[in-house]
Amino acid sequence: MFRNCAIAAAAKMHDYLNQLVEAYAPAARQGRVATYIPELAKVDPDGIGICVRTAEGLYCAGDAETKFTIQSVSKPMALILALMDWGPDKIFEKVGKEPTGDPFNSMIRLETHEKHKPFNPMINAGAISIAAMIKGDSTAHKIERLLGFVRKIAHNPNIEIDQRVYLSEKETGHRNRSIAHFLRAMKNFDQDPDEVLEVYFSQCSISLNCSDLSNMAMVLALDGKCYVTGEQLFPVEYAKIAKAYMVTCGMYDGSGEFAIHVGLPAKSGVGGGIMAVSPGQMGIGVYGPALDPKGNSVVGIKMLKALSDTYNLNIF
Ligand code: DON
Repeated sequence: MFRNCAIAAAAKMHDYLNQLVEAYAPAARQGRVATYIPELAKVDPDGIGICVRTAEGLYCAGDAETKFTIQSVSKPMALILALMDWGPDKIFEKVGKEPTGDPFNSMIRLETHEKHKPFNPMINAGAISIAAMIKGDSTAHKIERLLGFVRKIAHNPNIEIDQRVYLSEKETGHRNRSIAHFLRAMKNFDQDPDEVLEVYFSQCSISLNCSDLSNMAMVLALDGKCYVTGEQLFPVEYAKIAKAYMVTCGMYDGSGEFAIHVGLPAKSGVGGGIMAVSPGQMGIGVYGPALDPKGNSVVGIKMLKALSDTYNLNIF
């Protein structure tokens, strides 16, 4: 009897996700794919996919298998690894705890506020500062550690770095280069800024799909616990720090609106992915490369709002 109920609930979730994809696919036309990294401009703007991971299983619809680069969705993961490397006190010496209300690549407050300290680790400046904190014997080792951590949390040993996107961003990332050099000048870190950027560009170029995002989100939903083995993959405290940043800064200058209308800790990336967490119960990964002016997936936000409304997920 119970098993029949579980099967019926699973079928219902599958149907629901398919309906979401069908309903919101046309909305992709309201957005635009990112073009400032030339390789990202080549993706199909109509892509749309969603995966939900619960204790019962994985439910997917649409372009759930399509690979895209993680981009800024890597930022909470890099933060957690840096927290494991250094502990919170050292990390908070380097990055602040407040949202900016500015675009993700803004540098304006670096000079007008506390000179040496980006506002938070979700904006590019803060993420570059965090990239400088990842421990390793060499740049390659740091990248390998970060990639290994993402593979572990996503439960997928086959995740790789998309070299074309990496090179494309490396060639054109002048703004990030200026942020890194400015941080170096302000002694936020003392490594070669170009080596730090190699870590940052590589982490952004990690290639995965919606189910990988939903798996990572589920580990965050369980405060760092693996949903398969029960192993604690990182400390509960660090999961809570990451989720707090996701609520306040994860959607950049759209974080307040997202908190009001969707009400979930989430992190977006210009590759079109959003990782969203329903604490204790669900990990969600959505994909749609057509972005709004703030760099967040248009169809991704719409599907998350509908899912949150339907399943009463709003944490507030
Ligand atoms: O640094 C950049 O510009 C990109 N690699 C990542 C930015 C990003 O994903 C912003 N998110 N919406």
